[in-house]
Amino acid sequence: MISKKMSDRINLQINREMYSAYLYLAMAARMGEAGYKGVANWLTIQYHEEMFHAMKMYGYLQDQGASVALDAIARPDFKETGVKEIFQHTLEHEKGVTASIREIAALAREEKDYATENFIAWYVDEQVEEEKNATEILQTIDLLGNNAQGIFMLNIELGKRKLGVPSDFTGLAGH
Ligand code: FEO
Repeated sequence: MISKKMSDRINLQINREMYSAYLYLAMAARMGEAGYKGVANWLTIQYHEEMFHAMKMYGYLQDQGASVALDAIARPDFKETGVKEIFQHTLEHEKGVTASIREIAALAREEKDYATENFIAWYVDEQVEEEKNATEILQTIDLLGNNAQGIFMLNIELGKRKLGVPSDFTGLAGH
């Protein structure tokens, strides 16, 4: 069993993960409309990854006998239309998610909630990967010169990204 404070905090994180999913899906649509199908593919995969992050927490709350309380998801907030700017926004967004995950890790330690500390460790590692992915794409954009030809090549490369989470995840207890 976990504390009410902890289940509230994890419910908040579910909302933040679903907002992340919503943000990346909106960005994917924007990029797809602009003809960057590869970038749109990368962002759509990212959408699925975020839903996996949310559903993994959903499943954890259910495994702990805690209540899942879903809240309204905010409208995706971004104005960028350029590929580089989209990934700059992505990196900044992920830094914010990292800070949010660290809060849960700190709370788990404060409450001596070892189960949640173990559970959230996966997300701590995942955030290293999330920031690395966006950082490497931005580095590639800079290496390619941030010009039309470079963005075209990057677009092809990002079109190759495949789903990195189980395609049949459900969030049901026991997953
Ligand atoms: Fe769920 Fe992109 O972190």
